[in-house]
Amino acid sequence: MERTHVSTTINGDRVEFLCDSDQTLLDVLRDELQLTGSKEGCASGDCGACSVMLDGRLVCACLVLGAEATGRKVETIEGMAQGEELHPLQRKFLDHAALQCGICTPGFLIAAKALLECNTEPSETEVRYWLAGNLCRCTGYDKIVRAVLDTAAEMRGA
Ligand code: FES
Ligand code: FES
Repeated sequence: MERTHVSTTINGDRVEFLCDSDQTLLDVLRDELQLTGSKEGCASGDCGACSVMLDGRLVCACLVLGAEATGRKVETIEGMAQGEELHPLQRKFLDHAALQCGICTPGFLIAAKALLECNTEPSETEVRYWLAGNLCRCTGYDKIVRAVLDTAAEMRGA
């Protein structure tokens, strides 16, 4: 099969890759670019483990073709920390022990970051509603929700 040449931006870096026309963005990230932070839980848009930002919009990378990244801006979990400095959400997830196996965690972090960028003071209901597309089979969600609310409070200086 002839491969497609794609030029895109990932976490601020210009990136070029070759992909098959039916290869998902998730498979490209993980298999072609070795960006394995985004996880595959279901490959059908149901679990949110593969969440990334595409031109500022939260998407499931398993539902986007790699070729669709052409000329776009992709943000993945690998771009969340600034060097050694964790994003406040990453710190709070650790503080609240909001992860167990960790498969869902990158997706939750990306989705929660997107929430806090458009709503700096979400209610618990709003956090739960926003994260409804992210499934966790380990934590029971409570610690995740607490971590997001605590992050929001810290980022507001509350
Ligand atoms: S792997 Fe994409 S939503 Fe589950
Ligand atoms: S920590 Fe295991 S699925 Fe969420």
